[in-house]
Order: sequence, then structure tokens, then C-alpha cells
Amino acid sequence: MATKNLDNAKRQKKDEFYTQLSDIEKELVHYRLLFKGKTILCNCDDPRVSKFFYYFYANFHFLGLKRLTATCYKNLNPDLFSQNLDEQAVYCVYDGADRSDDKYTDYDAFIRQNEWGVLKGDGDFRSAECVELLKQADIVCTNPPFSLFREYVAQLVEYEKKFIIIGNINAVTYKEIFALFKENKIWLGRSIHSGDREFGVPDSYPLDAAGFRVGENGKKYIRVKGVRWFTNLDIKKRHEEIVLYKNYSPKEFPKYDNYDAIEVSKVSDQCNLLGKKWRRLRSP
Ligand SMILES: C[S@@+](CC[C@H](N)C(=O)[O-])C[C@H]1O[C@@H](n2cnc3c(N)ncnc32)[C@H](O)[C@@H]1O
Repeated sequence: MATKNLDNAKRQKKDEFYTQLSDIEKELVHYRLLFKGKTILCNCDDPRVSKFFYYFYANFHFLGLKRLTATCYKNLNPDLFSQNLDEQAVYCVYDGADRSDDKYTDYDAFIRQNEWGVLKGDGDFRSAECVELLKQADIVCTNPPFSLFREYVAQLVEYEKKFIIIGNINAVTYKEIFALFKENKIWLGRSIHSGDREFGVPDSYPLDAAGFRVGENGKKYIRVKGVRWFTNLDIKKRHEEIVLYKNYSPKEFPKYDNYDAIEVSKVSDQCNLLGKKWRRLRSP
């Protein structure tokens, strides 16, 4: 049902799905050492509300970041859930200024101090000023608009950026994204393999599906199926030895008529889960 909502979101270009801090933490912990000395860009993120920006702001010194930049889209007002009504948007650059000073001691204070600027344009990730910021970044991390996922990834590849982004598993069926998987230029992240995840959505979203709730704060949340992290940052898991425990059988894994590939329909037969099986097999 929630997948239906995400499909509807794509059709209606309703892109306001806000990632929860706990999901961000569970994924980014796997890349901790890779962030040292890096400039991070969150380019679909209102710095005043994005939990991506918050995560990197709060962990700036712990991760040893060089700089953190966020830009949002068509939004000047600091309300949760942008309506994308403004012709301009805000951005924020944080370079780890001394947080012993009172005004930097917490995020709320930081945000209250109006530590952001206004972009010349609407903050579209494809605009010249946002591309300039992209060029300066080492790692891009966000939840980009689902309706523009293809273009978003294409731009990251064009500028040869490292990235960790969250999206829907359906994206692997896009011709362009599938080609990147085949060429080993993108892979799935570490923390989400199945199930659903909860996202914040604007009050105005028509939610007729199961899996949505109104939180104590009065905000709406919806559980979305098929969510995955997509990255080109190296993770340890990719280098674990895979012990093969099955023989190929054309009957069990038939070849497609129209594509040079075999069908492996069970998740448990797919390589990303072999690590678990392997540990089980090896334990006494
Ligand atoms: C799925 S939401 C995620 C928001 C935030 N990154 C998060 O995870 O909490 C995608 C965001 O991209 C913004 N957006 C839509 N079109 C955009 C564009 N062309 N350029 C940049 N951002 C865009 C939307 O306003 C929306 O806030």
C-alpha cells in the first residue's frame, strides 16, 4: 500500500518524504572513516529541517568533516514540509566554527542565528549555482526527489561524485540505473534489506493507505516499502568472502528470453544475503 503511495508520489511529483534521523544514523555509521576531511553536500535539504543536515552538523567534529553544505528547493520559509512555492531557496554552509561559543552549542541555536543564505535561484539541483556547490563537494548525501531519481544519479555520475542516497528499489529497473549496477558504479547500502521505513509527509498529503499515522507532534508519517540506500562508497561488506553453496541449474534459474541474464527470484539466493548464511554454516 505504501509502495502505491510512493508510485503516486512519482506520478503526481509529490516529493516531500522526510527521512528519519534513526534511518540516517543506521546507514551512515558504516562510512564513518570515509568522511574524514571531506566536504559533504545535502542538495535536496532544507538545512532548518533536514535530518541529513542535522546528522552531519551534530557529528561534524566527530567525523572530522571539512565543510557541510545544504541547499533546499523553492523554499524560503522555515516551515517543516516545503510547499515549493517560492522562486528562491535557502542554503547553509557550516565549516565547523568553534562550538565552544554559546551560539554554536546546539542545532536549534545555530538555526535561530539565521546561519543560512538565500540562493539566487530556486535551488534546483541542476541549476548552475547548485552545480557549483556540487563541484566543491566530495560526498553527496540526501534523499533526492523520487520523481527525478534518474536525473539526479546521472548528474552525480557526470561529476564523478561519491554519494549515499536513499531511494526506492524500483529504481534498479530503470535502464540507466541498472547499467550502473552492472558496471559496478553503484551498489546497495548496508542497513536496509527488506521491510518498510517511516517518512514524514506534509499535512496536505492525501493518505488513504495503511501504514500512516499522526505523531504526537501532529505531523503525518507514512511507512514506505522498498526503500534502499544507493551508494558508490566502499563498504566492508563488499569485500567479505562469499562461500558459494549452490550449483547453477538452468531449471532453477532460467534465462530470460529477451535479456542475457538469469532469474534469481528468491532473496535468500542472492549474494547480499550469503554473508549471513555463511556465518551460520561456519559456526560449530
Ligand atoms: C524525498 S524529499 C527528501 C527531503 C530531505 N532530503 C529528507 O530526506 O528529509 C525530496 C526533496 O527534494 C526537493 N526537491 C524537489 N525537486 C527538487 C529539485 N529539482 N532540486 C532540488 N531539490 C528538489 C523537495 O522539495 C523535497 O524536499
